[in-house]
Amino acid sequence: MAKKTILSGSTATGDLTLGNYIGAINNWTALQEEYDCLYFVADLHALTVKQDPKKLNDRCMSFFAQYLALGLDPVKNTLFLQSHVPEHAELNWILTCLTPMGYLNRMTQFKDKSEKNTKNINAGLYTYPVLMAADILLYQADVVPVGEDQKQHLELCRDIVNFYHNRYGEKTLVMPEPFIGKQGARVMSLQDPTSKMSKSDENEKSFVSIIDTPKKIQKKIKGAVTDSDTVIEFDVEKKAGLSNLLTIYSVLSGKKVDEIVNEYQGKMYGHIKADLADLVCDTLKPVQEKYADLMNNQDYLLETMNSGASKARERASKTLKAVYEDTGLINLSSRK
Ligand code: TRP
Repeated sequence: MAKKTILSGSTATGDLTLGNYIGAINNWTALQEEYDCLYFVADLHALTVKQDPKKLNDRCMSFFAQYLALGLDPVKNTLFLQSHVPEHAELNWILTCLTPMGYLNRMTQFKDKSEKNTKNINAGLYTYPVLMAADILLYQADVVPVGEDQKQHLELCRDIVNFYHNRYGEKTLVMPEPFIGKQGARVMSLQDPTSKMSKSDENEKSFVSIIDTPKKIQKKIKGAVTDSDTVIEFDVEKKAGLSNLLTIYSVLSGKKVDEIVNEYQGKMYGHIKADLADLVCDTLKPVQEKYADLMNNQDYLLETMNSGASKARERASKTLKAVYEDTGLINLSSRK
């Protein structure tokens, strides 16, 4: 039986975080055996906010190296950068012409981002979810793992597929489903433990980046917001901050939360923070070493990007060709 196709990307903004690390170790390595997996760096999506060209260039290199350092195998998976596959931008146009503005007006992420970003409300920010639909549909992805914040975009992608099917028939585009993976741990912000740890949080103290120095990691974990009580217990309602630290501790150590709570009875929050900071540093150390090696070998990174892009293009171009035919555009190579 053919493997199902799974596709996911991260926008090249901010920093990949401990939350991404935990999501990755929990899912990626298992998925790469069971599914046909495509992972890409969404560098075109990053342009919806103002970017310094040099910094964007460095960040794209860095994200790609981090994917590899996290354990994504470039042979078992298709790993690439969005801009290296021009079909994304091309399919984006076709889909843009199928998407009613009313549907885009409803996107809460656009509303939030444009409220925060009043000086740069560009059309790309508005049509962002259509490009995301193109990313998914080019590869006939069956499933897409999405966080809460991207659910609405995946819904829109499904609407676009319906519009396409109604107009052009159902043979070319596959209807994607959300991927409900193993219920992984939710890693929360270190500064506001009621919201998710976000890679583009403006407050650097709210997340641990995968490539933070041990000194920074120590500082961020020790500075994590907790309550003013002293009793060690897991209670997401009353002790969101402490519970978040316990969750991270549990995932990284493999111990159950209850065990950790027992171990620290009578001790202070500071003890947990100090031990957790060491644990996070130790856990990230091998990833960081691998990352440093990769970043010192730009030739290897470029080669790996290149072969990922070729694999991706081979598939993407087939879909785009079928789409162009469906829409009635002339295909020169099939006309006698
Ligand atoms: N918008 C997603 C994010 O910021 C990244 C993304 C772009 C994506 N294209 C995608 C995720 C396609 C899944 C599928 O997190």
